[in-house]
Amino acid sequence: MTSNVRLNTDVAHTARVYDYILGGKDNFKADREVGDKLMQLLPSIKVSMRANRAFMARVARYLAAERGVRQFLDIGTGLPTSPNLHEVVQEVDPTSRVVYVDNDPIVLVHARALLTSTPEGETAYIDADFRNPQAIMNAPEYQILDLTKPVALSLIAILPFVVDEDEVHHVIDTLMAPLPPGSFLAISTATGDNSPEDTEQVRAEYERAGMRAKLRTRAEVEDLFRGLELVDPGVVLVHRWHPDEQAASLRDDEVHMYGGIAIKR
Ligand SMILES: C[S@@+](CC[C@H](N)C(=O)[O-])C[C@H]1O[C@@H](n2cnc3c(N)ncnc32)[C@H](O)[C@@H]1O
Repeated sequence: MTSNVRLNTDVAHTARVYDYILGGKDNFKADREVGDKLMQLLPSIKVSMRANRAFMARVARYLAAERGVRQFLDIGTGLPTSPNLHEVVQEVDPTSRVVYVDNDPIVLVHARALLTSTPEGETAYIDADFRNPQAIMNAPEYQILDLTKPVALSLIAILPFVVDEDEVHHVIDTLMAPLPPGSFLAISTATGDNSPEDTEQVRAEYERAGMRAKLRTRAEVEDLFRGLELVDPGVVLVHRWHPDEQAASLRDDEVHMYGGIAIKR
């Protein structure tokens, strides 16, 4: 399935830059150069990205364990990084189903590592663009979701790279529309609220390297959940969302991502 994939390793990609900063191995020189520059401009970016990854795992566990969600649509999955979302939720209930979506060829190459479902559950991978929700919903893999039961749509650290707000709202509305009441939306995305100048330099460096990027205020992130009911504590810096001991040890000035979840009534 992956033999004809073109990786274009001369150009930095968001998934590989993120993988590099997290300490992963699935990246190339162009990604490492951008990653090094980002860490120079904003040394706390590594802490922030790790805090984001930990937020993903806490949200997934919370939705599975506290809210009984057994189906997940995770868009902007990124390169496999342990624990992956399906590992977290299948630990709570092995029958859980997870559909992953990403549009980066390198993620497609490594998708096999995301397809390690328990026998009782199911995982699937769709190679598609978030901005084309119809293609996602028409994919055969999407059909493993039972739309009579709640689904959690997770958009974890993908929206920094989708910059048109009208488009983001339209896609979220389109993807949430077929999901039944009791479904959730989980989001984390980048902000410049706590260190505007340094984070703006990071945003500009992403753009210089060819990746459109956007920082959002807390109010803008809250607005992404419009029409849904935010769950306590609302939109907060990701380490402040239902923190465990590790998250609680982080300082606000080293985390540059907001996160939250909301329920569809
Ligand atoms: C920073 S990574 C986040 C990975 C993972 N969700 C996490 O938080 O650990 C962003 C991911 O979003 C993907 N992405 C960016 N724009 C996308 C789009 N328009 N459609 C699908 N995926 C996209 C990138 O390929 C990358 O894998």
